[in-house]
Formats: sequence, C-alpha cells, structure tokens
Amino acid sequence: MNAASETPAAPGLSREGLARFCNYITGELGIKMSDAKLPLLQSRLQRRLRVLGLNSLEEYQKHLFDPAKGDDERVHFFNAITTNKTDFFREPKHFEYLVQTALKNLEPSQIPGAAPAPWHFRLWCAGCSSGEEPYTLTMVLSEFAGHRPGFDFWLLATDISTRVLEHAQGGIYEEERIGPVAPALRSKYLLRSKDRTRAQVRIIPELRRKIAFRRLNFMDAQYGVTEMFEVIFFRNVMIYFDKPTQEKVIHKLCRNLVPGGYLFVGHSESLAGLDLPVACLGQAIYRKPA
Ligand SMILES: C[S@@+](CC[C@H](N)C(=O)[O-])C[C@H]1O[C@@H](n2cnc3c(N)ncnc32)[C@H](O)[C@@H]1O
Repeated sequence: MNAASETPAAPGLSREGLARFCNYITGELGIKMSDAKLPLLQSRLQRRLRVLGLNSLEEYQKHLFDPAKGDDERVHFFNAITTNKTDFFREPKHFEYLVQTALKNLEPSQIPGAAPAPWHFRLWCAGCSSGEEPYTLTMVLSEFAGHRPGFDFWLLATDISTRVLEHAQGGIYEEERIGPVAPALRSKYLLRSKDRTRAQVRIIPELRRKIAFRRLNFMDAQYGVTEMFEVIFFRNVMIYFDKPTQEKVIHKLCRNLVPGGYLFVGHSESLAGLDLPVACLGQAIYRKPA
C-alpha cells in the first residue's frame, strides 16, 4: 500500500474505496466523478447507511458489491446518487418552439380541401425525473390538440431512478411546485387535493394516461425501445457525461427519431465538436435530416 492509499478519502473510506465508487458510477451511469464529489456522495448515501444500520461508506461498499446480496442494492444506490432537479415549464422557450415551429414542420402532408389527416404524434422524454417535464409536455400538446382536429399524442418517459419514476407515475405534486404553470392550465389539468390540509395537486387522469413511464439506463448497449418518435426531449442529463459518452448516447437515442424529427437538449449542454446524426438549429435544438 503506498502513502496516498493510506490517507483515508473520508472517515471509513480509503482512497481505493473512493476510486472504486467513482469507477462504478462512471461505468454504470456514465456520470463523471472526481474526489471533489466525495462530500456529495457521502451526504446522498447517509440515509441508505441508516436504513441498513451501517456505520461507514466502507461497510456500505462491501454490502453493495456483495454478490450474495443480488442486484437490489444497485437500484437503491442509483436512486440515491442521481441528481433529479427538474421543474414544470423548465427552459420554457422549448415548449413555444415545439408548438410554433416543430409541430408545424412535422404536420403530415395534407390533401388540399380534405379534413386534416389523423396524426398520432409520439414524443420521448428521456431522463424524465419526477415527471414535471413530461406532464408539461402533455399540457402543451393537449392545448395544441384543441386547435388541430385529428391530433392525438403519446409520450414515453424514461429514467434510471425507480424513486423518481414512482413519483412521476403518481402525478402528485406539492402546490409550491406549480408556480410556473399558467393559471388557465392549472384549472384545466390539475386537481386540488380533497384533503385541504394537504397543499397538493394531482395531474388529471386524461393526461396521466398519455404517458408510459419506463426504467431505462442510457449506458445500456440496447435500449429495447421499439417505437419511433417525432420529437425527443433529452434535457439536462448529458451534463454529467463525458464527451464520448454524450456522442454514443445521442447516436443510440436518435435511432428512434424519425427523419426530420427534433431533438431538444438542455440549454447548458454544449454538443460542439461531437459527430452527431442531427444538425444544430440553435437554442439547444437539433433536427435529423429528412
Ligand atoms: C437533472 S434531471 C433532468 C430532468 C429533466 N429532463 C429536466 O430537464 O428537468 C436528470 C435525470 O437523468 C437521470 N439519469 C442520469 N443518468 C442516467 C442514466 N445513465 N440513464 C437514465 N437516466 C439517467 C437522472 O435519474 C435524473 O432524473
């Protein structure tokens, strides 16, 4: 053992232990790790240590990597360490662009004088966290459907974290989260809790039924998604990946994007220098050649 490895990275965690955690997180989730993230890792795993009655990260690591324990702890570990920050109507210009530009360009060709063609629109919300983003999309698309006869839509929403997916499936949010939702949309699409001591709202069943939530890890070799989508939202996920991982994941996602389809990424996610199957239109919006 060399001098560096004798220095503990944290109480109860050796340098080797920390490196093992970091390699595991990067290998399994694509998330870049460094020593600087140790305090974050520690604080996020505290609850898990308490639940399991363990005293240190070293003990937790033995538990996580114990082949006799099966894969269950991996799910808890991923739930604990992923960053799930999200909001209703986050980065709102994308929703305007979707309706005002993307949907107009994607409109199926029309026989002059005939009624609008039926349109079964499909959108994949990849890295959907606790559901605020896909439910925002269902509100926006429902409004669009009100003006476009024959328009119907369906969303696939995926995430690695079972904890956020359960929350998303329930569709229940604290009232303080709905600030960005316009009052007209609130009254149409959100139900207030009957129990007035609970400051909560629930997404109406008609919108909840429009989304299929599934667990999916972007690091998997195959995603097993068979549907094709006209639009993919993949926002604020890649920020944690290194460049080669970003490139690989975008290629895999875009296999399920129709020619002429749109890809939206987070505003702070730069894809400059990557070899991509989509062209940049600006404002973190990309389009696959038709
Ligand atoms: C910061 S949230 C972004 C949520 C939403 N897209 C938005 O922009 O508000 C990132 C989400 O990506 C998920 N995530 C991170 N790594 C992942 C991976 N390898 N596979 C699938 N989901 C992942 C996290 O669990 C988290 O819910």
